[in-house]
Amino acid sequence: MTSGKDKGAPQGGARPSRTAIKAVRGTRDLLPDQTPLWNRVEATARAVFARYGFGEIRTPIFEPTELFARGVGEETDIVSKEMFTWEDRARAASEKAQSLTLRPESTAGVVRAYIEHQMGETGALQKLYYIGPQFRRERPQRGRYRQFWQIGAEVIGPPSSGSESPLRDAEVLEMLASLLDELGVRGWTLELNSVGNTEDRARYNQALREALAPVKDRLCPDNQRRAETNPLRVLDSKDEQDQEIINGLPKIADYLGAESREHFAQVRAVLDACGVKYHVNPRLVRGLDYYTRTTFEFTVQTGLGTQNALLGGGRYDGLSEMLGGPKAPGIGFAIGEDRLILVLQEQAKQDAEAAGVAASEEKLDVYVAPLGVAQNAAALALARELRRDGLSVEVGDGTFKLRKSFDIADRVARNIVLLGEDEVAGNSATVKTFATGEQRKVGRGELASVLRLQ
Ligand code: HAM
Repeated sequence: MTSGKDKGAPQGGARPSRTAIKAVRGTRDLLPDQTPLWNRVEATARAVFARYGFGEIRTPIFEPTELFARGVGEETDIVSKEMFTWEDRARAASEKAQSLTLRPESTAGVVRAYIEHQMGETGALQKLYYIGPQFRRERPQRGRYRQFWQIGAEVIGPPSSGSESPLRDAEVLEMLASLLDELGVRGWTLELNSVGNTEDRARYNQALREALAPVKDRLCPDNQRRAETNPLRVLDSKDEQDQEIINGLPKIADYLGAESREHFAQVRAVLDACGVKYHVNPRLVRGLDYYTRTTFEFTVQTGLGTQNALLGGGRYDGLSEMLGGPKAPGIGFAIGEDRLILVLQEQAKQDAEAAGVAASEEKLDVYVAPLGVAQNAAALALARELRRDGLSVEVGDGTFKLRKSFDIADRVARNIVLLGEDEVAGNSATVKTFATGEQRKVGRGELASVLRLQ
């Protein structure tokens, strides 16, 4: 017997076989009961991006490892511990062996594409969005996976295109606020900070180095190393014992130069004018090295537990140059789509509980039930007609008992169409609508329009 739990076991009485293969830890299958919500989220994101003048970019899922080492930063958790990297052997004398990596994020790849296709030469601001999987070897838990999806966007261009303007930062943030509202995400908080320009960051790094020197020996080995190589990354550390020292470290806000302070003030002024609420969080430095000036996260309290960052982003004015390209300031974000879905599912559950009803399921327009094997062909021909008319249709089988046809139909569709000898001969069909219990005979010609009204 195959039990419900024993999903991997062979069906239909086949002899027990080898151990069933499971999805790799940290990866998931998204089954048809989940994908409608994913598609709705993606369709809404695409529609909002279009309203703000963004075009879609699709970059490869793997890139040279060096792209992330240089762009995201050697000392970040992502690059130092979480990448799926392999040595790609040369297959021909004309090829070189190289180290490749499954993308852990998409900003570096988008900026590589911007440089490679000389998109800056147009002089115009580039507004690009992407939706796709990312890969990080993190410890899997709710809201944290090894393959996860991001919906992201980047605004990048030569300084003459206005790419450095605080208006761009505010517009991206305002767009995100609108997108989350349109998706129905409730109770989000926008956490905002500025990590300064390259010079501010250099001064701040120096201050951190000095503050860390006398306490370095008490830090975990990773942080001891970072205290020397990239002290800003000590601030991302999740090591519990180091938190007391981390909390006492200097704050970036005290090291911002006049230019960065002014830029940040303008971003906030535009947000105020648009009525987008935010909370300034001076500890928000973000775990990637390319950030300059504005950094942000949107957090939520529902459904994510400790992984409460729904999305993150910021400005990266020096990234293009770090990757060998022209000066091209930019700002962008990535939404964790898996987390967004968890939040929406949790909210829907809470709403359904509050209203005392089960969360509603999408149903097909109609289930076509042939009453005998002789009507099977006519049933499929009718389904073909109805589908061509834009209706969603499932077809049963003439071997099914009437009771079984009704049971299946009631589960999957709003109407059942019965097709027996009489109906086929009379070019008609018997329709029952489950919500009202009404049953009637309808001529073939008017069937689609009748069903569409139910
Ligand atoms: P990030 O903060 O590393 O930024 O990731 C953005 C979002 O992706 C996070 O807030 C989270 O929702 C989601 N995320 C990250 N790791 C996982 C995971 N293991 N499982 C599920 N969701 C995850 C970036 O990736 C930057 N590229 C964002 C950006 C774009 N900055 C500028 N432009």
